Amino acid sequence: MPTVRRLSRFPSWPRPFDPDAELDWSDPTFSRRLLAEHLDQGHDGASRRLPLVDQHVRRLAQLLPPVPARVLDAGCGPGLYAVRLAGLGHRVDGVDVGPAVIRHARRAARAAGVSGLTHFEVGDVRSMPVSPRYNAVILIYYVLENQTARRQAAALRRLAGCLLPGGRLIAEFRLRPDQLPGRLSAWEVVDASLLGRRRQLLLSDSTYDRARHTFVLREVAVFADGSVAVQQTTSRLFDFDELPGLFAKAGMRIVETFDGWTRHPGGSLCDSVVVVAEPDRLPPVSRRRAASRQPG
Ligand SMILES: C[S@@+](CC[C@H](N)C(=O)[O-])C[C@H]1O[C@@H](n2cnc3c(N)ncnc32)[C@H](O)[C@@H]1O
Repeated sequence: MPTVRRLSRFPSWPRPFDPDAELDWSDPTFSRRLLAEHLDQGHDGASRRLPLVDQHVRRLAQLLPPVPARVLDAGCGPGLYAVRLAGLGHRVDGVDVGPAVIRHARRAARAAGVSGLTHFEVGDVRSMPVSPRYNAVILIYYVLENQTARRQAAALRRLAGCLLPGGRLIAEFRLRPDQLPGRLSAWEVVDASLLGRRRQLLLSDSTYDRARHTFVLREVAVFADGSVAVQQTTSRLFDFDELPGLFAKAGMRIVETFDGWTRHPGGSLCDSVVVVAEPDRLPPVSRRRAASRQPG
């Protein structure tokens, strides 16, 4: 559909996960532009800046099973964490829907001399084969949040099925965005954005619906030749109290939660939490009962 017509069909208040507008994360052009954002050391947008990644990897090393563990980095992006974990001696598989970030991850592994310990593949956590092969699965930087609640739960179930007995899942969840509930609209002139790498007028409109845990960002770029590009991304954030029920439904039990990457316990006032969970050894019937007793 021509972009301007698509734009004219946008509702004044965004529809979360609008199929007419929502970004396709597997799109090769978008993935190439996103790769540049992942690697940009001027912000922590798509991936964190490298000094922060190094800090997180030191913390992850304490949470992961001992070296050499088999680790699945789900939504690995350009492999910043995976390559470092392989450098510590873990065997790491990375999966991401973006083709450009996977190509970069392979190059980075070669450059770091760890290609023998890593394997990177384009894939979707919602449909990847379930086979119990890993001592740990990691989900770093809110990988599941661009999916509906139902799909988030299904993806967690799938990832739980990839764990060997005694394995653990370590996942980072965002509980709220940087914005207060309501709407924030802005415009600026920039040289590049995810909508194109040329000078543009960039209009952004973000809405945070706290009751529904959704944050929708709509962006419109107007280029010098008059062409227009639009995109929408919906993030379905998490409620701290829903996490035990979500993990129970996935056949897992939360062992610990932390306030972001700190060692302090997580709670509903945190902006983000790191959750460590293990497969639940309860028989399925007791597990279903436990899940139905959990909030969310
Ligand atoms: C915020 S980035 C974090 C990347 C990486 N974990 C890091 O911290 O550097 C989220 C990543 O999740 C990937 N992603 C989103 N949905 C996915 C899905 N359904 N399956 C696999 N990867 C997905 C995106 O392509 C993106 O690379």
